[in-house]
Formats: sequence, C-alpha cells, structure tokens
Amino acid sequence: MSSKEEQAVTQSNSCSVQGTNDHSILSKHAMCKAGYSYDPFLQSFTLKSAPRRSPLINRGYYIRDQAVQISLHSFLKESTSDSAAKQIISLGAGFDTSFFKLSTQSNDTLSTVYYVEVDFPEVAERKRMLIERSDLCRSVIDTAERFTPTHSCVKLATSQYCLLGIDLADVSLLAEVFSSHTKLAMELPTLLLSECVMTYMEPALSSQLIQHLHSLFPCSVFITYEQVVPGDSFGLFMQSHFTKLNSSLRGINTYPTKQAQRERYLATGYNKVDVLTMKEVYDSLSLAEKNRIWKLELFDEFEEWNLKCYHYVLVLARSDASFTHLELLIDSFLQSSPCELFFHLYNIIMCLLGVVISFLILL
Ligand SMILES: C[S@@+](CC[C@H](N)C(=O)[O-])C[C@H]1O[C@@H](n2cnc3c(N)ncnc32)[C@H](O)[C@@H]1O
Repeated sequence: MSSKEEQAVTQSNSCSVQGTNDHSILSKHAMCKAGYSYDPFLQSFTLKSAPRRSPLINRGYYIRDQAVQISLHSFLKESTSDSAAKQIISLGAGFDTSFFKLSTQSNDTLSTVYYVEVDFPEVAERKRMLIERSDLCRSVIDTAERFTPTHSCVKLATSQYCLLGIDLADVSLLAEVFSSHTKLAMELPTLLLSECVMTYMEPALSSQLIQHLHSLFPCSVFITYEQVVPGDSFGLFMQSHFTKLNSSLRGINTYPTKQAQRERYLATGYNKVDVLTMKEVYDSLSLAEKNRIWKLELFDEFEEWNLKCYHYVLVLARSDASFTHLELLIDSFLQSSPCELFFHLYNIIMCLLGVVISFLILL
C-alpha cells in the first residue's frame, strides 16, 4: 500500500471511530426516553429524534451509564487533599453530557471541579457548535467566566470547563496543552475517564497514553469502560459488528479478560486496580432500582442480558489507596443485593401464576 493509500485508510478509520459517538449519543437518548435515566441535555446533541432501541440495548446503555456515573460521583465525594478542588478529564468524551449534568446538582459541584473534555478536533468542533446553539447548555457555560482560547486545539474555555480537539494518540501535544493549562494543577486529585474509547486505539498507543497521564497526574483515578472476552460466540459477534462499522475493537484481543485489564493498569503505574463486569454492577443495584427497571419494558432475554453483562467491564485504577469512597464503592459493587434471590423467585411465581390463570380461563 502506498503512503497516500495508507493515509486514506487511517483517515477513513478515524471518521468511523468518530461515528461511534453519534451512535452512542442516540442510544443514550433512546435509553433515557424509555425512562431508564433522566438527562435533559441529551437533546441538545442529537439532531435526530431519539430512535426506539430494543429493551436489551436500552438495558446495556442503562448499566453503562450507572457504572460510570456512580463511579464519577464517588470520586467527587473524595477528600484526598486539603482543598475540595478536583479535576475530571474525559478522554474521547464525544457528546457526553456529564459536565452539564453536574450543573444540576444541588451542592454546587461545579464550583470545586474543573472539567476537561478531549476528542478528535472534528468531534470537539461539532460539540462546540452544538453547545453554542443550545440555550440549555449555554445557560450552564455562561455561569462561568469565558476565556479566549490560547491554542488552536482549545475549542471552548471557561473557568469551569475546557473542550479540546486533540487526537489522543498525540501524547506530546496532550502533555504540552495540559502542562501549560493555567486551570489544571498536576497535583490535584484527577479523574481520567474513558468510556468506550481506549479499545478503538492501537493498544501500544493507548498504553502510552495511560502511562503518560499517570505520570502527569500522580494523584489520579483512571476509569475505563470497555468490551472484553472476544473469543466466545458473543465476543466474535461483537467484534464482527464493530469491524463492519470500520471501527474495530483494536484493544480487545490484547486485553481480553478482567485479569489482563487489571495487569495492564498495574503495569502502567497504578497501584490499586479493580475490574468489575456489568453483571457485578447490575447485581449490586438496590432491589427498588431493579424493580423500577423491570416495570419499564417487557423483557425476557435473560440469557443475552447475562452474556452482554459479562462482555463489558469497568476498570477502576487508583494511584494510591487514599480514595476511600471508591474503595467503599468497589466493596458495594462486589455485594449482590440480598433480596435478589427473593426477587427472582417472585418473578418466577408471578409468571407461573399467569400461565395457570390463562390455562384456567381456557378451560
Ligand atoms: C463510542 S464513543 C464514546 C463517547 C463518550 N465517551 C460516551 O461514552 O458517550 C468513542 C469516542 O472516542 C473518541 N476517540 C476514539 N479514539 C480517539 C482518539 N485517538 N483521539 C480522540 N478521540 C478519540 C471518538 O471520536 C468518539 O467520540
């Protein structure tokens, strides 16, 4: 392949990877519309109306949202330094709305958190335009002081938020922009978030990124949500689905298990690493929350649901043991809600009762 052809292929891969953001945001919107979560900001980022997704897909996006949001909020409760100040850096943020959702918190979270989002320049520019066009998003952005961007990769900058257009593979540019950023302090507790991002990068490049960020932010938590177990029939199906979309899961075969993920973050410098499947996260939800979910849509694809949950993990890598709220969260993820068995028995009895009643009516 000539270098021109290689360049064209890389360009088209990058466009397809950027396209995964459009898919994610539509699916998150569909999940919220079905009643699983509430997010008024999503409609500012979806030009189309929310499509209908199957209950299995809605549940998948719901548990992903729960896993990431619960972890993010646990991080915000930490008090590892003298001040309450913290930083969140969302890598491959796409059109994620977490920053805007924090503005709706009653405890004025945004006054102590500096929030940075990074994505490819094209995605970041589209996000900037959508933010500027949305009265709702601007009402959040305009509560802080705006700064004139000092670097061409800065798309939007305020005293609370910064939107950067940088390829995450370009670690030297990323390090340069972070180090010269007047609102970022390297010693502050920092959450580095990658929700369905790392796996689209070449493993050597994503490992280099993790390592670089760990050394730049010595007091950090790295949270990753992504696919694992590529080799069984569900995993093969999942891989071929993404390959057809020209956005192959490049990292999944290098980090195919919970253990491989754990070792990866330990090797890049993190001292404490836990990896949880979405099955563990779902099992830890309260009975009341599970009941609420059950009532939203008719659902009977239990086998597929369990399989799906085993193929997605949440990695929680901490630079040290002083993130006490996250330690508690991990303990709580590892405990299934005690009434789970009772809950399943109740559902089975109700199903059997339905069958018996239908049979009696037919008689
Ligand atoms: C599946 S989307 C997820 C978006 C967001 N994190 C979420 O969960 O809603 C993946 C995102 O990662 C971004 N991404 C992937 N590789 C990247 C890279 N090398 N540099 C910057 N962004 C990247 C894509 O552009 C896309 O926005």
